[in-house]
Amino acid sequence: MNAHKMRLSDYAFNGVHEFLERVETARPVIERSRVVGPALPSFENVDAVIAELQPAEPVFCIEPSKLREAARRFSAFPGRALYAVKCNPHPLVLETLFNAGIADFDVASLEEVRLIDSLFGSAAGQFFNNPAKSRPAIRIASSTHGIRFYTADCEDEIEKILQEADTGSDLIIAVRLATKPADARYVLSTKFGAQPNEAVRLLKMIQQRGVKAGISFHVGSQCLSPVAFSAAIALAGKVADTAGVTLSVLNVGGGFPAPYPGDRVQGIESYFASIFHAKGGINLPAGCLLLCEPGRSLVAEAGTTIAQVVVRRGKSIYINDGVFGTLQELTHPKENRPVRLVRSHSRPAGVTAEFKVYGPTCDSNDVLGAPISLPGDVQEGDWIEFGMMGAYSLSMRTKFNGFHTDKLVMLGN
Ligand SMILES: Cc1ncc(COP(=O)(O)O)c(C=O)c1O
Repeated sequence: MNAHKMRLSDYAFNGVHEFLERVETARPVIERSRVVGPALPSFENVDAVIAELQPAEPVFCIEPSKLREAARRFSAFPGRALYAVKCNPHPLVLETLFNAGIADFDVASLEEVRLIDSLFGSAAGQFFNNPAKSRPAIRIASSTHGIRFYTADCEDEIEKILQEADTGSDLIIAVRLATKPADARYVLSTKFGAQPNEAVRLLKMIQQRGVKAGISFHVGSQCLSPVAFSAAIALAGKVADTAGVTLSVLNVGGGFPAPYPGDRVQGIESYFASIFHAKGGINLPAGCLLLCEPGRSLVAEAGTTIAQVVVRRGKSIYINDGVFGTLQELTHPKENRPVRLVRSHSRPAGVTAEFKVYGPTCDSNDVLGAPISLPGDVQEGDWIEFGMMGAYSLSMRTKFNGFHTDKLVMLGN
């Protein structure tokens, strides 16, 4: 148990808001410019990486200034923004976000809980929002790491949390509510989420057991429509009213989109405004805490993959990173990223053409879902820069076939 950790039961308080304010004040001052672990080699830009390293292995670049910009955008969220660690758990990413003011984290596993605790201790808030957790994970998260916020979407999971977590008036369980399909690339309400009637029953059950109740949802990842958030908030309001339960937390999840080429993404303020207005239209008690837990929109723009062309065969190219590496999301035919060719030696540029792009493994699925446009003179030894690769890239890579994208550098400072 962390020595600095506060518990609600240690205090008389008037709602979660006051509790969180007190936690804020009690957070130990930690050195905010600290860098954990060995610093990554730093380069001015991608061209400098290629010029100096002439890399024959893929290189993944992290650009902290983009993380700081994204964190600044989220300071306008009308509540509290947690970072979804799964999206990119590299310590440089976590440290940079933390130093830029994102001091709370949505964690999915004990491994992520331990990582956040090891980096920031009690200076960080942790919210264990995976709706399917093992008993030991809940037990250790509670007793060793002092986590008081959990999410569930069925009765058994709620029972499990009540049995394994330290009870007390500071325990909060949010019911994950399934939302209607929206304009999102990745739907996140099929695997998890209680239907409204079931959510009503679960909220009542939590309240009857003397525990604070909340609602969370996820409108889907890369959700383009601000209305998806307001519709889900309206649904959450109806569910809470029907249950007659006072919400301590409303967590509007992640899903805020990254501005990938071809996606009709509005400015982040449109999504925040939609949330703010919808929140005003439902009955939320004054002390109810509004949370969001973005992953992609905080980190997407801060990552770049540099891959090298290994073989060209007509209009197909075979490169040394792929969908079992950092390019996993590009299996989806609608996923586009800014792509740039860096020639291994100078020559006249060919007319732009579409190329099918294969990764390095022997698996036929190791292919990008959409062709990419490149100058027609692309050849073996050239490099391809894939921009906006910060989300679900490093965290998804494997060592399949012995290929592993493990050369990491930093761009800028
Ligand atoms: C519970 C939860 N919260 C937040 C996120 C982050 O979502 P996004 O990257 O779309 O913002 C995810 C992504 O899977 C999630 O499952």
